[in-house]
Amino acid sequence: MRILLYTGKGGVGKTSVSAASALRCAELGYRTVVLSTDSAHSLGDSFNTRIGNELVELTPNLWGQEIDLLHQMDKYWGRVQEYLNALFAWRGMDSLVAEETSVLPGMEELASLMQITHLAESGVYDAIVIDAAPTGSTLQLLSFPDIARWYIEKIMPFERRTLQIARPIMSRMSDFPLPDDDIFESVEELVDVLERTSLLLSDSNISSMRLVINPEKMVIKEAQRAYAYLNLYGYAVDSIVCNRVFPQELQEDYFNGWIEAQQRNLALVEEAFHPLPIFRIPFFEEEVLGQEMLQRMAATIFGTDPVRGGSGDPTQIYYQGEPQKIYARNGHYILSIALPLVEKDEVNLHRSVVDELIVRIGNWKRNIALPIGLARLEIDGAKYEGDRLNILFRKEEFDSEDAAESIQTSPWAQLKARLQGESVA
Ligand SMILES: Nc1ncnc2c1ncn2[C@@H]1O[C@H](COP(=O)(O)OP(=O)(O)OP(=O)(O)O)[C@@H](O)[C@H]1O
Ligand SMILES: [Mg+2]
Repeated sequence: MRILLYTGKGGVGKTSVSAASALRCAELGYRTVVLSTDSAHSLGDSFNTRIGNELVELTPNLWGQEIDLLHQMDKYWGRVQEYLNALFAWRGMDSLVAEETSVLPGMEELASLMQITHLAESGVYDAIVIDAAPTGSTLQLLSFPDIARWYIEKIMPFERRTLQIARPIMSRMSDFPLPDDDIFESVEELVDVLERTSLLLSDSNISSMRLVINPEKMVIKEAQRAYAYLNLYGYAVDSIVCNRVFPQELQEDYFNGWIEAQQRNLALVEEAFHPLPIFRIPFFEEEVLGQEMLQRMAATIFGTDPVRGGSGDPTQIYYQGEPQKIYARNGHYILSIALPLVEKDEVNLHRSVVDELIVRIGNWKRNIALPIGLARLEIDGAKYEGDRLNILFRKEEFDSEDAAESIQTSPWAQLKARLQGESVA
């Protein structure tokens, strides 16, 4: 069973590429489900049909679903949320604020995660293709299991059994809202699902993340950042899908500037994501709607004939390895980059703008987007270990208030701070 998740900036072609991949999977005989987790659904449009919150059969072997977040949330989360409301209010938060914070950004993502896990564990499908929301929300989705576990541990401070004994006394002594048994059950179930989801999505033999881009600077930059974050969370990206490439044979003077810019940007893409394979899709002469266009699109990504050398199979793992990873070791955060073939002479590190690192070794150059938390840190040096270039960021500062603040910009982090009783601006 394979999970293929496509994400990227708004409008780059995620839905089309997901639909094309799913259709190809089904044609290869895999029992496939294509799932949209973006609340602005357009998966149905790609297939020229209506897809709703329930699974519908689209073609032989292919089912589709557009997850209705509100519906899913009601199903799984209503009771727990009530409790959180009460708890926040008790913690001295203004009840209005309390209500807002318990509809946490990320709670919606939870519904999608639950459905993915449910489908993956059903044993019914060979391939699950996810048309994910634009990058930001998807990163939130993928970071959710980690953060939620922390959050739940903090917010559910009592063991269930302890509570059964303490309930009569505590309810007399304080107005702390004590959770009912069934709320505990919901939360335990939730933690359990999150564990399982995390295992599924971070297993590179099961799940591959694919970044969909266009050959445009801003799109590439966002994808680089997403790539860094995915590496940070330990999710495997196995390829880049570069959509809307103008064909060379386009002979319209009007577009010359665009074609040249795209050529430059394609070089940038190669450099930024090396050694990931990059699939190019031409800008078609019409929209990608309906099976025939989806088949055309799939053919340009995965190949059709043996001449092109494409296996034609979207479920193939196109790259395995960890081109980039980030971890902590002995007072440093280490950004580790796989550089097996590079001549190991002088390494030149250079920061372009705040959150970018340019690594230069001889003629070879790599442009790396840094997660905010790392971008602020001093670099203590870089060294080769095995086939990897490891860049050392000094950790002390990272733990200082200033740097900590920079990684604590998410609403989640603000919430964490609140729960820890720290002041929040
Ligand atoms: N290579 C292409 N050639 C021509 N049209 C394309 C191509 N790729 C996508 N399109 C069209 O561009 C539009 C946007 O594509 P799509 O919906 O797949 O993007 P998206 O990334 O899912 O957007 P959103 O972020 O809004 O969900 C659609 O009308 C689609 O048919
Ligand atoms: Mg879309």
